[in-house]
Amino acid sequence: MLIELINVSHVYQDENNVKALKNINLEINKGEFIGIVGHTGSGKSTLVQLFNGLIIPSSGTVKINGKNITNEKSNLKETRRHVGLVFQYPEHQLFEETVYQDIAFGPKNLGLNKDEIQARVNEVMELVGLDYDEFKARSPFNLSGGQQRKVAIAGVLALKPDVLVLDEPSAGLDPQGRKQLAELLQYLYQELEMTIILISHRMEEIAELSSRVIVMHQGEIVIDDNPVEVFSKEQKLHKLSLDLPQITEILHRLDERGLKVNTSLFSVSEASAEIIKALRSK
Ligand SMILES: Nc1ncnc2c1ncn2[C@@H]1O[C@H](COP(=O)(O)OP(=O)(O)OP(=O)(O)O)[C@@H](O)[C@H]1O
Ligand SMILES: [Mg+2]
Repeated sequence: MLIELINVSHVYQDENNVKALKNINLEINKGEFIGIVGHTGSGKSTLVQLFNGLIIPSSGTVKINGKNITNEKSNLKETRRHVGLVFQYPEHQLFEETVYQDIAFGPKNLGLNKDEIQARVNEVMELVGLDYDEFKARSPFNLSGGQQRKVAIAGVLALKPDVLVLDEPSAGLDPQGRKQLAELLQYLYQELEMTIILISHRMEEIAELSSRVIVMHQGEIVIDDNPVEVFSKEQKLHKLSLDLPQITEILHRLDERGLKVNTSLFSVSEASAEIIKALRSK
């Protein structure tokens, strides 16, 4: 098992003493694509920061690759190599003079030699879709928002983590940027067999990409199931202030009006084919 949380609770120690996580038990295996959703303040970001030891919980146990990281602080550096975390608006953490230097920062810290570093930078720039010769010497601060986000993600991928955790990676991107990001995540998951953990409030993204969806509410995991099951619970999701993917919502409305359609579809292309089929057979 890759990540295991046992009776984990977390209270932020400040004047409010918010109980951000309440008695979480969770197992994540290698090769899963986990989508995490939940209303603002439900504890999503707090949860994923436990996965690489950025937050040590107030109580309970966190195990990464079988190692208890809640009491062996010395292992945290190693843990962070295995679990790469891309924060929300990661471009705010770009700081080097060139794209090359920014992406090379992590591999340098790992003590790799110059050739290895260059090979990695080259490889991850290609992965995220940034032309090496065109972008290596550019300043990260003169790039578009979407390009900056790619540099930030490349910097985490350059550490070759087993698990990639992304907190709202599509926030603020235009449709084209979101499409490229979704394609990248799909590639990492399917072709490179990476374990992916994705926080997003875009239900269509979660439904299309995830093999398993975790729904959080007030610091607890309230649903943990495959996307078809999760997005069939329309009433329950609405109570948690969550929506269905837009296209799935349309299928539900058509179904209510008597058009016989499969309501467990999440992509526009599948859904439109389904609607055409249903209309033809009427
Ligand atoms: N650094 C912090 N210090 C104090 N309280 C915090 C801190 N970070 C989060 N909280 C509180 O902990 C709770 C959970 O917050 P968290 O950021 O994990 O939620 P979230 O699901 O990621 O929300 P969002 O969708 O807005 O990103 C909230 O009540 C929040 O106000
Ligand atoms: Mg958050």
